[in-house]
Amino acid sequence: MQDPQGAFDLRKFPHNERERFIASVARGKNQMPGWGGMLKPEDIEALWAYVVSAESIYGH
Ligand code: HEM
Repeated sequence: MQDPQGAFDLRKFPHNERERFIASVARGKNQMPGWGGMLKPEDIEALWAYVVSAESIYGH
């Protein structure tokens, strides 16, 4: 989530763009490979739930 350097700061990922998150994580985007081979759909849903949770916004 934090200080991803060249990657995306997921704290700033728009919370109304679930489909984009699912697609980017499963199939990759630009420099990022897809993670669909190692993450099941329910794993990616769990990551999305975390990204949109208050915990991920306010940290620790
Ligand atoms: C399971 C772990 C990961 C998740 C959930 C994740 C998720 C994401 C998401 C949602 C984006 C934004 C895509 C968009 O704009 O629609 C992104 C971008 C990116 N990620 Fe990841 N990522 C993960 C791991 C990694 C790793 C390990 C790397 C580097 C080795 C990486 C490199 C990048 C890069 C370079 C971008 C920018 C892509 C671009 O817009 O050009 N990601 N990531």
